[in-house]
Amino acid sequence: MTPHNFATTCCTHTCIPADSVTRIGYLILAAGKGTRMHSSAPKVLQRVLDKPLLGYVLDALADVPSDQVWSVIGHGADQVRAAFTDPKYHFILQGEQRGTGHALRIAWPTIEEHKLDYVCVVNGDTPCVPRTDLDRLIMACMAANAGMGILTLNLDNPTGYGRVVRAQDGTIRDIIEEKDCDAQTRDIHEVNAGIYVFSVPRCRHLLARLDDHNAQGEFYITQLVRLCTEAHMPVHGVSFTHACGMLGINTPQELTGVEDNLRTEIVAHWIQAGVSIRQPGLVSIGPDVVLEPGVQITGPAEIYGHSRITGGAVVESHCWLRDATLQACQVRSFSHIESAHVGTGAVIGPFARLRPGTIIEDQARVGNFVEVKNSVLRCGAKASHLSYLGDSEIGAHANIGAGTITCNYDGQRKHRTNIGSRAFIGSNTALVAPVEVGEQAVVGAGSVVTKSVPPQALCIARAKQTNLTGWKPKSSSTQKD
Ligand code: UD1
Ligand code: CA
Repeated sequence: MTPHNFATTCCTHTCIPADSVTRIGYLILAAGKGTRMHSSAPKVLQRVLDKPLLGYVLDALADVPSDQVWSVIGHGADQVRAAFTDPKYHFILQGEQRGTGHALRIAWPTIEEHKLDYVCVVNGDTPCVPRTDLDRLIMACMAANAGMGILTLNLDNPTGYGRVVRAQDGTIRDIIEEKDCDAQTRDIHEVNAGIYVFSVPRCRHLLARLDDHNAQGEFYITQLVRLCTEAHMPVHGVSFTHACGMLGINTPQELTGVEDNLRTEIVAHWIQAGVSIRQPGLVSIGPDVVLEPGVQITGPAEIYGHSRITGGAVVESHCWLRDATLQACQVRSFSHIESAHVGTGAVIGPFARLRPGTIIEDQARVGNFVEVKNSVLRCGAKASHLSYLGDSEIGAHANIGAGTITCNYDGQRKHRTNIGSRAFIGSNTALVAPVEVGEQAVVGAGSVVTKSVPPQALCIARAKQTNLTGWKPKSSSTQKD
C-alpha cells in the first residue's frame, strides 16, 4: 500500500497542463520566528504528528521540479537547513525578518533570475495546504490574466487573519490585517489564506512600493493587493470551502487543533483500509506511515515518520514507533522503536527499546528492559531480560542472559561485539568491546569478557569462589538486630 496524500482528500484535481510553457515557481515563506508559539524552535520546525510544518508544505509540492521551489528562511535558519538536508531543497536567507512582503522582496532576485512567469507564494505554517488548490488558483489567475491571485476562506471565527475587502461589484480591493482593522472591517468573515500567485512581469514594479506604515511596522505581502488594484490590475480571488486544510498555525492551541483533525482523518483512513485499530481516539499515525490491511494496533500508540508495517503485525498499547519497519511480528506494550527493523515472528517487549540501526531478524526475541542499538540479532536469537546490546552482532539462536551488557564505549570511541550463532552468554556478563565470542561458545554467568572466546569454548572470567569452611559468625550477644 502506498502512502496516502492526506492533504488532497477533499478536492478534485485540476492539473496545470504538463505541456505548459509558462514557467511557474513556488516560494514558501518560512523565516518567521513564530513568537506566538512561545518556543525557542523556529515555527516551521514545530511538529504536527511528529513531522515539521515545513515538511508538509514541501511534500505538497513534491511533484514540482525541485529547482522551482524555494523556502525563505531566517529565524533559526541553521536548524531548518539541518532538518532538510536533501540537496533538492533550496533556501533563500531573509537575514532580518521584516514581514512577509520583505520576504518576497528578498526572494525576488531569485525569481527574476529563473525567468519565472508566475510565482506561487505559500505561508510555511499551513501544513495541510492542498496542492490541487494551488493549481486551481494559478490556472484561474492565468485565465483571468490577473496581476495576482489569492485564496480566501470564509471562517466563522476570522480572528487573527487578514480580512478580504471587496468592492460592491465583488472585486477584491484590499486585505486588511487584523491589527489594522476598524470595527466594521473586523466583522468581515472572508479572510486571506496566506496563499498567493503573482504575475512576475506585472508585479515587479510594485515591490518597491511596499511600505511598513502599519500597526506592526512590517512589510506586508498583502499590501500588494491594494497596489495591484491601484495599478488597475485585477486581483483574482478563489474561495476555498474546506477551511481545515488552510488553517495557519500560530499558537500551540492552533497546532494541537490542526494535529487532532489530521490525526482523526488518518486513523479513519487506515481503519477503512482494513487496519484494526482499537481505542482509535488514542492512536496517532503520521502522514507518511504506511500500513497494510491486517495490522492490529491498540491505543494509546504513536506511529510516526516513514514507518512501514506489514499485515499480521500486532502493536500493543503504549508503544511509540518512528521510522520502524515491522514485518508480521509482535510488539508488546510499552515498547519504543526508532529506525529499526523487526522480522516475521519476532517478539519485542513488553518494555523494550530498539534504537536506530537495529535489525531484529525473524523469530528473534527482545524482552523486557532490553535496549538494543545499532545491532543485529540474527534469526531466533534471544535477549529476554535486562540487557544493553550496542554496536553488536548476535548470531542466530544465540542466547543472551539477563543483565548482559556490551561495554561498547571506552570514553572516546565505540567498539563492536560479535557473538557467534548458538553461543550462550550467561547472566550478568560484561562484554568489553572490541570482543568476539565464537559459535556455540558458553560464557559463565557474571563474567567480564575482555578477550575473544574461541568457538565451542567455555569462558569463565570471574573471581573464583572461595568457601572458608569452619568460619563462625561472631557470638549473637555482639550482633545488632
Ligand atoms: C498572514 C497574512 C494574513 C493571513 C494569514 C494566513 C501577512 C501580513 N498576513 O498573517 O493576511 O490571513 O497569514 O495564515 O502576510 N514570514 C517570513 N518572514 C517574515 C515574516 C513571516 O518568512 O519576515 C513567514 C512566517 O514564517 C510564516 C508566514 O510568513 O510562515 C506568515 O507569517 P505570519 O507571521 O504567520 O503571518 P500571519 O500573522 O499569520
Ligand atoms: Ca500565520
